Amino acid sequence: MAEEKKDISVLLTEKRVFKPTPEFVEQTNVKKWMNKHGIKDYDELLKKCEDIEWFWGEMSKELVEWYSPYDKVLDWNPPFAKWFTGAKYNIVHDALDKHIKTARKDKIAYIFEGEPGDIKKWTYGELYTEVNKLANALKSLGVKKGDRVGIYLPMLVELPIAMLACAKIGAVHSVVFSGFSATALRDRLIDCESKVVITCDHFYRRGGKVALKKQTDEAVEGAPTVKNVIVYKRIGDDVPWTEGRDHWWHEITKDQSAECETEKLDANDLLYILYTSGTTGKPKGILHAHGGYAVGTAQTLKWVFDLKEDDIWWCAADIGWVTGHSYIVYAPLILGTTSIIYEGAPAFPEPERWWSIIDKHKVSVLYTSPTAIRAHMRLGEEHPQKCGLDSLRILGSVGEPINPEAWIWYHKYIGREQCPIMDTWWQTETGHFCISPLPITSLKPGSATKPLPGIKAAVYNEQGEAVTNAGGNLVMLNPWPGMLRGLYKDEERYKQVYWSKFQNTYLAGDVTRMDEDGYFWIQGRADDVLNVAGHRIGNSEIESALVSHPKVAEAAVIGKPHELKGESIAAFVVLRQGVEPNEELRKEIREHVGTEIGKIARPDEIGFVNDVPKTRSGKIMRRVIRAKAIGEKVGDISTLANPEAVEEISRAK
Ligand code: WT7
Repeated sequence: MAEEKKDISVLLTEKRVFKPTPEFVEQTNVKKWMNKHGIKDYDELLKKCEDIEWFWGEMSKELVEWYSPYDKVLDWNPPFAKWFTGAKYNIVHDALDKHIKTARKDKIAYIFEGEPGDIKKWTYGELYTEVNKLANALKSLGVKKGDRVGIYLPMLVELPIAMLACAKIGAVHSVVFSGFSATALRDRLIDCESKVVITCDHFYRRGGKVALKKQTDEAVEGAPTVKNVIVYKRIGDDVPWTEGRDHWWHEITKDQSAECETEKLDANDLLYILYTSGTTGKPKGILHAHGGYAVGTAQTLKWVFDLKEDDIWWCAADIGWVTGHSYIVYAPLILGTTSIIYEGAPAFPEPERWWSIIDKHKVSVLYTSPTAIRAHMRLGEEHPQKCGLDSLRILGSVGEPINPEAWIWYHKYIGREQCPIMDTWWQTETGHFCISPLPITSLKPGSATKPLPGIKAAVYNEQGEAVTNAGGNLVMLNPWPGMLRGLYKDEERYKQVYWSKFQNTYLAGDVTRMDEDGYFWIQGRADDVLNVAGHRIGNSEIESALVSHPKVAEAAVIGKPHELKGESIAAFVVLRQGVEPNEELRKEIREHVGTEIGKIARPDEIGFVNDVPKTRSGKIMRRVIRAKAIGEKVGDISTLANPEAVEEISRAK
């Protein structure tokens, strides 16, 4: 063990750059494309693709089939981009319809493994039929083009089926992560005025059963636009039932036709809304459209993870987040890939669960988060070492910066020092990878390397000048095909959040450094957004949940560096007059946040204080609180309305 540790530190001090072998490079999708276009190396590739309209137009020819051709690749009217204007399109044509006319019909689209170990394989043909039946069922409930449908499902194949059924008829899906609470679901259903919700009875998680239908009922009670609920039976235990509103999935689809015509939409019509956290309490409804998103997600998956016909792809994220939307559902289906969907918790019931899934299903490409890697690292390398893992050829990382130690461990024990690691930087807003290596790129552990072909990014200082070797604002200088189309019903916020700091330039909200080789080192959020285990949660969202507890008067939330999760949540709470702090109340407040948002948002620490530092205009000074809480220099506090409150932070009980 001590020996291994030394080994890793040697690898780090060498500042080693990992170069893929020429044999490996030669057989990659990207290299084959370069050969076809007479491009000799990576630098020339990036240069050639600076003509984004040419590049994305070329890519669209290889990846998607329009019902009718586009007039223009890009219509850029900052800050609004339209891609492939004039084309008639539906992403479901590429994800399903086109495959069933070929041998792909009988190819496996999804290998599902339930937490108890049940396995079910779905061919493209089977998926197609089930999607059609559900799409017809939705129509029978009156769902039409443009209507919003809420989906609250865990990691079951029925989740992609539900998404595709909506897209097929031109309805807009809004998936809510199954780990979110009933309150969080209700807020989202209300905001997007969902007509229907698709959910399940229960699902398995860590040996227990999560009562999703019960939570759905709680949410729907307060969401008057929801008239119908479709319930997939995963487990079969009793569930509460509202006659007339609730429909079993198997009953409502039973007599539906196995064919359903795919709605021919405009390429820029909306595909989905996905809520994500921002700096204010209210989550933002990110909008994505059919055409550009299809090209952008499929292209990036094909080149970055080099997917080929016989690969078995495992993106171990949850479909409730954008990672799963783009890289478990849409892009892999467009490419005709076989993907793994695993229902349960990692390392459950035994530490080698993941590694045995890889061996059993011969997974060739694995994509996961630094938090998951660090958790496995802590469990010890003896677990992956019990398994062969020899089917793996490429690895990936996403969601947060990967520390070089975790990178090296992943490379050594999971990748057997043979798999390159694609550290992909992107966001719910970007729709697909933007800064990431290709399998031909020289890698530096901890760096997401360079903007992909067709993407132009930079690091700006506060004055909007490009800087090297200094922390600055990560910005995007050109639109890209999967770029968000705005925020649902909030154009002003869209302009203000992303486009107001620098002119016609997209502000990502991440502090980043670019080194002398042009490699990007993402350091974390620049705004008041936490990244806990790769999940994005707004500080103010947690603060709002805290103050909604009847005994809480005020709250301030900060992130503290955390070995495993990247960041942990620390809350400072001012209780209402006359309320005495005690352990029980601390637990109760913590659980209250779980009920308001979801388990992932529960503070790791709650400290009771008499006051929190604020500016004269009443804004909570999180920067000051954080510095004090983690023992850093606090800096200038002269603008505070209550400088004495700073000391409260160290006195927190
Ligand atoms: C934020 C976006 C899009 C995937 C899941 C998260 C952070 C994402 C990386 C990476 C460093 C990363 C950024 C970004 N992030 N990928 N490879 N290295 N940081 O999506 O919830 O929209 O969060 O995740 O801070 O802004 P999201």
